[in-house]
Amino acid sequence: MNSGSNNGSADAGLRGAVVGDTRLSSINGEEGRLIYRGIDIHDLARESTFEETAYLLWHGMLPSRASLAAFRADLGARRELPAVIEDLLRTLPATAAPMDVLRTAVSALALFDEKVDNRSRAATLEKALRLTAIFPTILAAFHQLSNGRKPIAPKRDLDTAANFLYMMTGKTPSESAFRVLDMALVLHADHGMNASTFSAIVTAATLSDMYSAITSAIGTLKGPLHGGANEGVIHNLLEIGELDRVPAWVDAKLAAHEKIMGFGHAVYTAYDPRATDLKALAGAVGAAAGSTKWFTMTEAMERAVWERKRLYPNVDLYSACVYHTLGIPTAYFTPVFAMSRIAGWCAHVMEQYEDNKLIRPRANYVGNRGVAYMPIDQRDTDIAV
Ligand SMILES: CC(C)(COP(=O)(O)OP(=O)(O)OC[C@H]1O[C@@H](n2cnc3c(N)ncnc32)[C@H](O)[C@@H]1OP(=O)(O)O)[C@@H](O)C(=O)NCCC(=O)NCCS
Repeated sequence: MNSGSNNGSADAGLRGAVVGDTRLSSINGEEGRLIYRGIDIHDLARESTFEETAYLLWHGMLPSRASLAAFRADLGARRELPAVIEDLLRTLPATAAPMDVLRTAVSALALFDEKVDNRSRAATLEKALRLTAIFPTILAAFHQLSNGRKPIAPKRDLDTAANFLYMMTGKTPSESAFRVLDMALVLHADHGMNASTFSAIVTAATLSDMYSAITSAIGTLKGPLHGGANEGVIHNLLEIGELDRVPAWVDAKLAAHEKIMGFGHAVYTAYDPRATDLKALAGAVGAAAGSTKWFTMTEAMERAVWERKRLYPNVDLYSACVYHTLGIPTAYFTPVFAMSRIAGWCAHVMEQYEDNKLIRPRANYVGNRGVAYMPIDQRDTDIAV
């Protein structure tokens, strides 16, 4: 029996590996820069909207006023939840995690799309529109149903962010609340070859359908090392409770070798540019709401982690503070991330279909070789191999 083998040592977590070409977004990890289609994320956050950003990602163009109006109308017209999906949501446990609900609903939607396996540009764009339009409706409908209320029908004329807040609360949000969430959606729309996008394109690269690719992506985004981190941040802040307890809490976490959600990144060695914008938003939202407690605690956590570990915050640290202050329930933080990242996932799936190659890496086998097979009648116990 030979122990182990070496086909070359594996690059743990594929850090630095390049899986293909993309024209969608690019991260400069050393300088802390992010571009979508060549445009700096800070410019988009300040000037653009989620709808315009999705159009930019999908079409490679900044839309004219007329094109953007048509695109908004296309999204608005696809927001209604099919009755069969609403019925499905009613059957799910009220305690279900909204990310699991979203994954289930997207999977179910595929069953009612007659063109599910059509990968033409036109059919794929239609799926992208439908999924982007319906994510907020699925989530808000489940939020209402799981609280014993009737879902609130979407409004066609509102933008994605405003319509989501409306369906969650029954009230048309203030211009500033809409703008804050809209900026957060712009900042989350795409991010190079992140884990959930990779899941989506691995699935798409087998020439499986868009719904399967997006279902894979939702399952991947859910994890606490990826999109799930924003929910972890708020759980941490609630657990800490008071500003003066932040340093000791950070010390205890680090002493226990636990990861602190909202810090560190696989690509950035500089400040995450999205965190810069979200930090400014979090401060402004807190001040406008007359409550800066969460923002101040988050800043204290940032300082404490930097002093002890030299780790920068990532996108999830201050987004958690923004969503919490906007009154979005914690279980919907990662789904809000998905509501935005769907634009990037769809763009990558479309790009993948246009120039496809099966994605099939190898693993570095480190197990035994030459192990003799022992027939079952000679085994009195389990035999370790
Ligand atoms: C995102 C993440 C997985 C990237 O990790 P990575 O590049 O693979 O880096 P590693 O997990 O190998 O960590 C490298 C070192 O930094 C530490 N580190 C990284 N992120 C940390 C965190 N959030 N809290 C505490 N320590 C952290 C590791 O413990 C390790 O320290 P060591 O060398 O003393 O053992 C990681 O930073 C993390 O788990 N962050 C928390 C979850 C999170 O916020 N995810 C959202 C990402 S946008």
